[in-house]
Amino acid sequence: MAHPASPRITIFPNPQAMASAVASQIAERLRVNPRLVLGLPTGRTPIPLYERLAALAAEQRADFSRATTFNLDEFLGIRADHPGSFRTFMRTHLFSRVNLCADRIHFLDGCASRPDDECGRYEQSIAKAGGLDLQLLGVGTNGHIGFNEPAAELQPWTHRVTLTTETRAANAELFGGDPSAVPGEALTMGMATILHARSIVLLASGASKASVIERVLHGPITTELPASFLQLHPDVEIVLDEPAAAGVIASRGRA
Ligand code: GLP
Repeated sequence: MAHPASPRITIFPNPQAMASAVASQIAERLRVNPRLVLGLPTGRTPIPLYERLAALAAEQRADFSRATTFNLDEFLGIRADHPGSFRTFMRTHLFSRVNLCADRIHFLDGCASRPDDECGRYEQSIAKAGGLDLQLLGVGTNGHIGFNEPAAELQPWTHRVTLTTETRAANAELFGGDPSAVPGEALTMGMATILHARSIVLLASGASKASVIERVLHGPITTELPASFLQLHPDVEIVLDEPAAAGVIASRGRA
């Protein structure tokens, strides 16, 4: 039997409506708890959300001044100021536009001389911040979350990972459209890092995500679909636009 309360599914007509609702939810959480600790994703999906959060911040309706952020992942071997880094992505879409304090923005250093130590340092920083209150997630078409790729075994904590060809192709836009220019490795929060967040909101938009979302919600929990582990968490909201919800709506029709 499905858990009665989680994952909750919320469907919006389009990505803008999704972004607006989730941005308002975050602004409200910041009002209730100004010291909110957020886990943040990159990718195309959260761009409208970051846009909306920037607009709320400009209108003084979202206050990040005491909030803390931890990004999910970073490519290995590229500097923070590289145009393709996730750090640059976040600076462009969010950090330069809201009143986050620079020393409370946390990122994995893709150029750390000892990547394993860097992963340990990140886990310690998350613990020192009191853990993640709200982890925002996107999802790969192959079911990855962060850079936890489908595999026979998944890693619990922040670790070094080899990216699949599919994931490198999906990230090519950040590297001038050339998949071979996308680093072959990355550092990413692990499954336990993510699942220990007190609440999780996963966003998915567009028809290309319909099949993976249906499997994430109704398929077996399997390491071959890392996002399926979200079924085990007590407070997950899956926020979809109608095209991404097509598989869920079809399976409801069959039920
Ligand atoms: C990237 C990121 C993920 C992201 C996913 C989906 O590889 N590491 O955190 O959720 O791909 O990206 P998009 O939102 O562009 O579909």
